[in-house]
Amino acid sequence: MDRNAAIRLLREHVHEDSLVKHCLATGAIMKAVAGDLGGDAESWERIGILHDIDFEEISGEMQRHGIAGAAILSAHGIDKDSADIVAAHNHFLRTAPYERPVDIALQAADSASGLIIACALVKGGNLSGVSVKTITKKAKEKSFAAGCDRSRIALIASLMDVPVFYAYALRGMMEIRTDLSLK
Ligand SMILES: [Fe+2]
Repeated sequence: MDRNAAIRLLREHVHEDSLVKHCLATGAIMKAVAGDLGGDAESWERIGILHDIDFEEISGEMQRHGIAGAAILSAHGIDKDSADIVAAHNHFLRTAPYERPVDIALQAADSASGLIIACALVKGGNLSGVSVKTITKKAKEKSFAAGCDRSRIALIASLMDVPVFYAYALRGMMEIRTDLSLK
């Protein structure tokens, strides 16, 4: 399944625009960081795009989140490994630490995508005006984009420096900024 097909599948299940953008941004970060972490960029991007595909369907039943998504992916012929990663990304259900780079990257990308979008929005929708320094500064303000869990971003520190991760994330999101309605 290529990127366009993944986005089509996502849009069949997710209708809220901000959630679609969150998924696209997460995919862009996963794609950008894959090479450095020994992953396949196309496959990691697809995982990012599809990771919250069940979010509207579960309507708040967080104990189903991820598991329901994995079932949708399996029904559409997506490989079991990707479906398992989507199932495991629900950190509320997770008891063991995340160990594989792809799982850690998804935790970090899932939280950083919202943080970086919020950084762009305070700059009038200008993602090109956001720097690694901006993100680092805003991440320290607890009340800023408070829903973006900093501890999930911090997991990436076992694999790379957090500012390096932010640089990859920014680069990835810049590539798709028009899809995110950002400049
Ligand atoms: Fe997410």
